[in-house]
Amino acid sequence: MPESRVPRRRRYLVCEPRHFAVQYAINPWMRPDQHVDVSLAQAQWQSLIGAYRAHGHTVETVEPVPGLPDMVFAANAAVVVDGRVFGSLFHAPERRPESHPYDTWFKSAGYDVYRPESVSEGEGDFVPAGRWVLAGTGFRTTREAHREAQEFFGAPVIGLTLVDPYFYHLDTALFVLDDDNIAYYPEAFSPGSREVLARLYPDAVIATREDAMSFGLNSVSDGRHVFISPGATALAEELTRHGYIPVPVDLSEFHKAGGGIKCCTQEIR
Ligand code: ARG
Repeated sequence: MPESRVPRRRRYLVCEPRHFAVQYAINPWMRPDQHVDVSLAQAQWQSLIGAYRAHGHTVETVEPVPGLPDMVFAANAAVVVDGRVFGSLFHAPERRPESHPYDTWFKSAGYDVYRPESVSEGEGDFVPAGRWVLAGTGFRTTREAHREAQEFFGAPVIGLTLVDPYFYHLDTALFVLDDDNIAYYPEAFSPGSREVLARLYPDAVIATREDAMSFGLNSVSDGRHVFISPGATALAEELTRHGYIPVPVDLSEFHKAGGGIKCCTQEIR
């Protein structure tokens, strides 16, 4: 029998997909000729928000800005640990203006925002994991930003190199289950980074390529419930075996932009 997992109430920041679209291509999932059904995206997004609220979590929203179609991916705007906000500096010029409305939201909510000097895409590449912060590099966030984040948070930042362009952000290849464990897709990482993960997390939940390609690793866990893409069937079974409860939420319209559940969700810690 798996042990009983204890959920913790979370505070999430999200952005309604009113202006969501695929207008440029900055990752292999994006094809600007592909039609996006905005009303379907809105309905899918509402079902995610509904699932969070139904499980007792607080959801706050940033007002979407016309002309910033990727602003729905709230995770990329910052990473927040113990009320310290490490803002973003986007790799793509198309996304750079997103930092401003998010910084404004944080300031009006009473937070100071640190502006990184080097490219840094918030929780897309920084994944707080209990005593340390896991950090991806290879496609977007730089090593220099990892150093800045370690200095800013005063917590160990563990750099991991991503090698597969389909998994260009750390949060497409790995997610935190609770303070002690993670789930990940090993082949998304360089051999050395794979070894680091195996050393830190000998009991990790290992995902298949199919799980990863279904955005199964772009999941959000509250320590007990895992909000997960319904396509990640093997991973959902594995999570169940480990005592977690998968809560399927379909964000298929967002996959066209290379994003899923976690990308749409920033946790304010
Ligand atoms: N189109 C966006 C980009 O390529 C998707 C961002 C997905 N967000 C994430 N946290 N992985 O930047």
